[in-house]
Amino acid sequence: MEQKIKVAVLGGGGRTGKYLITQLLNQGYSVKLLLRSPEKFQLQNPGIEIIKGDAIDIESIRSLVKGCQAIISTVGQRPDEPLVASRATLNVLSVMAELGVRRYILVAGLNVDVPSDKISERTTMATEWMKSNFPLIHEDRQKTYSILSASNADWTLVRVPFIEFTDVRKETLASVEDCRGDKISAADIAFFLIEQLDSDLYIKKSPFIANA
Ligand SMILES: NC(=O)c1ccc[n+]([C@@H]2O[C@H](COP(=O)([O-])OP(=O)(O)OC[C@H]3O[C@@H](n4cnc5c(N)ncnc54)[C@H](OP(=O)(O)O)[C@@H]3O)[C@@H](O)[C@H]2O)c1
Repeated sequence: MEQKIKVAVLGGGGRTGKYLITQLLNQGYSVKLLLRSPEKFQLQNPGIEIIKGDAIDIESIRSLVKGCQAIISTVGQRPDEPLVASRATLNVLSVMAELGVRRYILVAGLNVDVPSDKISERTTMATEWMKSNFPLIHEDRQKTYSILSASNADWTLVRVPFIEFTDVRKETLASVEDCRGDKISAADIAFFLIEQLDSDLYIKKSPFIANA
């Protein structure tokens, strides 16, 4: 059987992260996880290596990425904690450059504006809601996009609508211009993220994905 790469995962203990880890293992990848509370992580598998640490700490990211060939992040902002998205991305990109790792795939909500967008009224409304209710988190996500845009890494920023935490899979519509639906299953996010490991279709791009 073909030897698959080792993937570093940020946010692997979160809701979407669990679908991602399960699917990576099912597809024969080995995974290295960065967890703040490893004792809370239930899944046991010989293909999993766990590093205890925080995404805003560069040493943690260095330990995580060492020995891996790609990074996938489903990190999400926790209330009343330091902003994580842009700091984690700065750390990841810096360590990638140091260690010669090229591929970085990360998840965000719809509320990241990209110059090539041609978004519908529905997507605009969802985006505006996030901007007015969580302005600092929105700014941090937008900053993350600016940092990615200025980097030489092979990044893909996957923008998703409301997530349904289910194994049910449906047709996934991807577009770099607009979000074509208002929901996506966590299983479909996991499959899409993993597909990007072997694809250059969305390198340096920010596709929206949604269920049809
Ligand atoms: N849920 C939705 O409907 C929805 C919709 C659109 C976009 N999104 C985006 O999709 C992604 C996944 O969402 P989700 O709902 O599955 O997320 P989630 O369940 O809230 O999980 C977030 C994960 O990020 C980790 N994390 C946060 N700060 C960290 C830090 N400083 N260092 C290390 N790990 C950290 C958390 O770890 P701890 O357990 O240690 O806190 C957790 O594992 C997120 O980027 C989210 O913003 C979600």
